[in-house]
Amino acid sequence: MKEKLRIVGGARLEGEVMVSGGKNAAVAILPATLLADSPSVIENVPDIDDVHVLIKIMRYLGAEVEFADNVLRVDPRQVDKFDPPYELASRMRASYYLVPVLLGNFMRAEVPLPGGCDLGLRPIDQTLKGMRALGVDVDIRGGTLSAKAEELMGADIFLEMPSVGATVNSMLAAVSAPGMTCIHNAAKEPHIVDLANFLSSMGASVKGAGTDAIRIRGGRHLHGANYTVVPDQIETGTLMIAAAATGGDVVITGAIPTHMEALSAKLLEMGVHVTSEDDRIRVRSNQNFRAVNVKTQGYPGFPTDLQQPLTALLTVANGTSIVTETIFESRFKFLDELRKMGANTRVIETTAIITGVESLAGARVNATDLRAGAALVIAALMADGVTEISNISHLMRGYERIDEKLRSLGAEIELVRSEEA
Ligand code: EPU
Repeated sequence: MKEKLRIVGGARLEGEVMVSGGKNAAVAILPATLLADSPSVIENVPDIDDVHVLIKIMRYLGAEVEFADNVLRVDPRQVDKFDPPYELASRMRASYYLVPVLLGNFMRAEVPLPGGCDLGLRPIDQTLKGMRALGVDVDIRGGTLSAKAEELMGADIFLEMPSVGATVNSMLAAVSAPGMTCIHNAAKEPHIVDLANFLSSMGASVKGAGTDAIRIRGGRHLHGANYTVVPDQIETGTLMIAAAATGGDVVITGAIPTHMEALSAKLLEMGVHVTSEDDRIRVRSNQNFRAVNVKTQGYPGFPTDLQQPLTALLTVANGTSIVTETIFESRFKFLDELRKMGANTRVIETTAIITGVESLAGARVNATDLRAGAALVIAALMADGVTEISNISHLMRGYERIDEKLRSLGAEIELVRSEEA
């Protein structure tokens, strides 16, 4: 059974909507629970496909996991395997976060190489570098990440770029490595800080997360913990852009406004009203957008994961915008789909030139990856007529009940299941 989204454009979004827990935080925290010698309870876990796949992998490895109402209970005491199967591990990017965890438990891990969105080349050389620095013998053999160690030892790790994945993997390995590890040029994203906070609540010593040097004194005994996952920065941003796109008036609750500063600044520059108080962000617009230039960067810069949704909005701004994608080379593929809706865009290597048009028109389009799907939803919400977005499994993999949430704000959006979708 395939699914597509059918959206009738033009409805103004209004009201309040609650943001879910962070996908990229949850997929790092869940594997970390397996390092404990007692159960953990994790709240605010988003109910999305990536989490379901991870739960299946954790159960396969021997953990007892219950998941209901966004609360995950995990008892890792019976974990006795170090080799998750290909069919599961290859379905998501974050499955390779299990490598350092299983190494910590068994000094051995065999994990099929990560899947996730096709965003062009997604090398893992910095993960390998980090693990090797800690004493791990790690290699890729027959499509599997194969790792073993006699013992782990704290060390200095110098990342060549602030990779989220390499920072997470280095942190997860370092907590089991006696001595001091310093991860230099670490990623600073909110999900890195959230993982550090969870590891600390398990009894680990982690300092400096959120800066570019994370210091971990490893080898401590780790116990289970109760923890609440940070709100999803990218879902918050997607909802903010959707509100602006429809000339709406929306309050997003349960958010962390400081995580949104790069996006808020861009929206303000475009002429959108953004205000915040405590965990609430209010977005209002009159749909008269100024063109702006955007360059993606690691946190606290403008996130690559919001580039596609914001670019969708820029297709109807007054003037020409220049969008530079510095993180993932293939994140302009979705512009082919936006062009079907009437967008005027041109790509030169890593730069897209977007000349605003009066309006977009509904069309049949295809979601090429998770955030491309989000961008197409935003385009469809502001387009004239009906848009049908196919191949939305990526979108549903990363956004919890996005169709329901938008419908509750007044969007005409429907999930259609059919054989031929
Ligand atoms: N890179 C390397 N070598 C490495 C690792 C990364 O050259 O060993 C390069 C990549 O090619 C890319 C850049 O470094 O150009 C950054 O990649 P990073 O490792 O930070 O990305 P990631 O860990 O694969 C995570 C998120 C992505 C998000 C990026 C950037 C998770 C599970 N995934 O990916 O999320 O786009 O960080 O912020 O946390 C999404 O949610 O849609 C998504 C793709």
